[in-house]
Amino acid sequence: MPQKQRPVYFSKSVAQTKKIAKEIIQTFSYPEIICLYGDLGSGKTIFAKAVGQFFGLEEKTIKSPTYVFYHTHQLPPLKKTPRWLYHFDLYRLNHAHEVEGLGFSEILQQKNKIILIEWPQIIASILPEKRLEIYFTYLNDQERKIEVTPFL
Ligand SMILES: Nc1ncnc2c1ncn2[C@@H]1O[C@H](COP(=O)(O)OP(=O)(O)O)[C@@H](O)[C@H]1O
Ligand SMILES: [Mg+2]
Repeated sequence: MPQKQRPVYFSKSVAQTKKIAKEIIQTFSYPEIICLYGDLGSGKTIFAKAVGQFFGLEEKTIKSPTYVFYHTHQLPPLKKTPRWLYHFDLYRLNHAHEVEGLGFSEILQQKNKIILIEWPQIIASILPEKRLEIYFTYLNDQERKIEVTPFL
């Protein structure tokens, strides 16, 4: 069941979106699965970069995994958990079952992980119940609305 707290943020810059990302993952104590919804250019990958940076990755390390569907990043031992960050972009996936070929079940079983999923709609039927959902809306060149729905 979604919790009562459903924050909405308004960002006026990339820097602000990154700040909001760091605030969100701390508010929800590093949720294991974060679904990122929104049109192209709405800020999903910028958000993923900020999460990576929060866990000690360099800014440039997180890049859009559109053509390979996901990237795996081992996290430096700055914080106790997580140890692994998986960053999915399922924009080009045609059917939900195709994620099994990518080892999605095994990744879900792994401990000490955080999974970010851009374009998760196509795998809606197989997403674990426990997750954080974040909706990005493009308002204008610089502004984005970021809405959070926790199912934790
Ligand atoms: N407030 C903002 N938050 C996030 N991105 C912004 C913002 N204002 C402008 N942008 C630009 O929007 C684009 C967002 O790109 P990206 O995160 O790759 O989108 P997505 O992954 O949703 O397709 C970037 O080019 C970024 O510079
Ligand atoms: Mg993206």
